[in-house]
Amino acid sequence: MPPFEDEPDSGAPATRRDFLKVGAAAGLTAALGGCLNSQRGIQRAQAMPAGPLLAAPPMEKVRIGFVGVGGMGMVHIENLVHIPGAEIRAVCDIVDDKVRAAQDRVVKAGFAKPTGYSRGPLDFERMCQEEELDLVYNATPWEWHVPICIAAMKAGKHAATEVPAAYTVDDCWRLVETAEKLGKHCVMMENCNYGRAELLMLNLVRKGMFGELLHGEGGYLHDLREIKFSKEGEGLWRRAHSIRRDGNLYPTHGLGPIAQCMDINRGDRFDYVVSMSSNSRGLRLYAAEQFPAGDPRRAEVFKLGDVNASLIRTVNGRTIYLAHNCDNPRPYSRINMLQGTRGILSGYPDRVHIEGRSPPHRWETLDKYYEEFEHPLWRSEEVKSSTSGHGGMDYLEDLRLIECLRKGRPTDMNVYDAAAISVITPLTEQSVANRSRPQDVPDFTRGRWKTNEKLGIAGLA
Ligand SMILES: NC(=O)c1ccc[n+]([C@@H]2O[C@H](COP(=O)([O-])OP(=O)(O)OC[C@H]3O[C@@H](n4cnc5c(N)ncnc54)[C@H](O)[C@@H]3O)[C@@H](O)[C@H]2O)c1
Repeated sequence: MPPFEDEPDSGAPATRRDFLKVGAAAGLTAALGGCLNSQRGIQRAQAMPAGPLLAAPPMEKVRIGFVGVGGMGMVHIENLVHIPGAEIRAVCDIVDDKVRAAQDRVVKAGFAKPTGYSRGPLDFERMCQEEELDLVYNATPWEWHVPICIAAMKAGKHAATEVPAAYTVDDCWRLVETAEKLGKHCVMMENCNYGRAELLMLNLVRKGMFGELLHGEGGYLHDLREIKFSKEGEGLWRRAHSIRRDGNLYPTHGLGPIAQCMDINRGDRFDYVVSMSSNSRGLRLYAAEQFPAGDPRRAEVFKLGDVNASLIRTVNGRTIYLAHNCDNPRPYSRINMLQGTRGILSGYPDRVHIEGRSPPHRWETLDKYYEEFEHPLWRSEEVKSSTSGHGGMDYLEDLRLIECLRKGRPTDMNVYDAAAISVITPLTEQSVANRSRPQDVPDFTRGRWKTNEKLGIAGLA
C-alpha cells in the first residue's frame, strides 16, 4: 500500500452531522449533504498517491453483516441464503420487525440465527465493532451508504453498498481513500451491469461487433410518484432528495452498463459532464390530485426538475447521453443504447443492428444473438431461473461478489467504479446550478485507468 496522507476524518462525525434522521417518525427532515465541492475533489486528485486495490486474500466463507433490510435488502438476503459460501451472521435495521423478518428468513434457510442490531440509526457501528465479519453489505437510504461503508472498512471488513455509493464529490474520494488506505474492497452493487441484454452487449463489444464505440445512452426513467409519496419504504426518505436537489439523482443503472462496455477506468475515463433540468411539475401535480386538502404533502415544493438530461464526454472522445425522470407518467426504461462504427444495440424494446449481418436499415430482435453470443454468466440455468429481484441479474451480482471474495479475485466492480459513476450525480447538480457549465470528473484512479486491465468475460466457477 502506498503512503497515505491522513486527512482529518470527516467519517464518523458525518454520520451525525447532516444526514436524514430516518425512522418511523422521521418523515422528511432532510438536511442533505452539500454537493458543491468538486474543485476540492479535483485538487485532491492531484494530491493523493496512487494505490493498487484489486484483490484481497481468499476466504472459504463470506461472513456477512447486512444493514438495511427493507425492500432491496430483503432481495439480497433472499439471494445470499442460496449462494454457496455466503453466511449472514448479523442483521441491522432501525426497525425491529424488519430485523426479525430477516433473521427468520435466514433461519428458515437452515442457518444459525444472525445477531440482530436495532438500537437506532448508528447501531451498524456497534455491529461492525462486535461481529467477526468479512463483509458489511448495506441497502439503506442513500445518506447512510458512505457512513456504513467507512465504518465497515475501519473495522477491517469489506464493504458492499446499494446504489449510488455516494452523492458528494468528497464522499466519493473518502470511499476511494479509505479503501486504499485499509486495503478493503468497497463495491457498489450495480445490478444492471449483470442484466441479460447488458451482458450480451458487453460480449458483443468484446467480439468487436459494434466496431469502434462512439456513443452510449442510458437513463433511469421510472414513474416513482406513488413510491415517493408512500408513507413507508422509499417514501420515508427518497422524496426528501427531490425537495432539496436538482440534477441526475440516480445515474448508476443507466450509466453502469455503458461504462462497463466503454472500459471506464480500464482504458478510458469520464472527462467532463454537462447537465440541464426541465421545470419541476410532476410531484406537486400528483400531490394536488391525490391528497385531500390539508395533507402536508400538498404544500411541499420540489427543486428537482422532472426531466434531467446530461452529456458526458470521455477522455477517448466517446459521448454518453444520460437521462433521469421519476416524476411523470411513463413506462419504465433505462434506454441502454450503444452505437459503434459497425452497429447499434438499443433497449426498451431490445433490438440490434449490425452492419453486414442485419438487413440494411432494419432492426433485429436479440433472439438469434442470444443463441450465438449469450454471455457465459447467463448460460447457467441457476441464473436464468432465479426469480428473486429483477429477473436474475440481482442474483448474479450477489453470486459474483461472493465468488470473487471467496477466490481472492478482483471484484467485477471496484471502489473506483463506485466513485466514477456515483460522482456524476453531484457534478450534474453543479452543472444544472451553473447554466449547464461543464464539470470535470475527477480521476479517482490517479492515472491507472490507462493501464488497468479490461473487465474480462467471466463465467461461473
Ligand atoms: N439496485 C436496485 O435495483 C435497487 C432497487 C431498489 C432500491 N435500491 C437501492 O437500495 C437502497 C435501499 O432502497 P429500498 O428500496 O430497499 O428502501 P427501503 O426504504 O425499503 O429500505 C431501507 C431500509 O433501511 C433501513 N434503514 C434506514 N436507515 C438505517 C440505518 N441508519 N441503519 C440501518 N437501517 C436503516 C430502513 O428501516 C429500511 O428497512 C437504496 O440505496 C436504493 O437506491 C436499489
